Amino acid sequence: MSKTLIAPSILAADFANLQRDVELINNSDADWFHIDIMDGVFVPNISFGMPVLRDIVKHAKKPIDVHLMIVEPDRYVQRFADLGSTNLTVHYEACTHLHRTLQAIKAAGMKAGVALNPHTNIGLLEDVIHDIDLVCLMSVNPGFGGQSFIENTFDKVMALRQLIDAMGANTLIEIDGGVTNKNAAALVEAGADVLVAGSYVFKSDDPVATIRGLKELTA
Ligand code: DX5
Ligand code: ZN
Repeated sequence: MSKTLIAPSILAADFANLQRDVELINNSDADWFHIDIMDGVFVPNISFGMPVLRDIVKHAKKPIDVHLMIVEPDRYVQRFADLGSTNLTVHYEACTHLHRTLQAIKAAGMKAGVALNPHTNIGLLEDVIHDIDLVCLMSVNPGFGGQSFIENTFDKVMALRQLIDAMGANTLIEIDGGVTNKNAAALVEAGADVLVAGSYVFKSDDPVATIRGLKELTA
């Protein structure tokens, strides 16, 4: 089986049938639940918050990968730990004291992730790479599902893979936005470890088969 992890994004699920869609992921080859939290300030959209995450966690049987698209994420680190998050990813662009934020996430018992907007250079992570469990490269501008993949992401994945390997770090590379069967294999070839997929999975006729297809493509 593939070592590439597939993380379906619940943002594209049917919120009126959320338990059904959570069970669907439980019963699929997916590895993680990707949870997009948007505050309407850091990004021009509001998704859902703590009560919804709490109810997802009640039913979810796989790790919970939380992607915070919010300002001042430090204020909520403990809350997200208490809710059962496995990974907590904050945006580089939202953190003045990123090193401190990463330490706080780990002290709360979670894996620490950093997301980079499409314009943010991967080199900015060099001095903290050993402190990061997961880098989430945004392959769309954060805020919405269903956008098209930004091709420059391939260069960023390769550069980040080089940086991580050169520094001897164990950091995972996650790609978020516009992932489909058209780019999945090439992303893994370029060095990606985790693929997030929202619309491609949930808007397909058979999400379980779509997830299986992504696993096979990246095996
Ligand atoms: C975008 C979110 C993504 C989004 C991906 O801001 O971070 O996780 O749900 O959705 P698709 O796969 O539809 O681009
Ligand atoms: Zn996301």
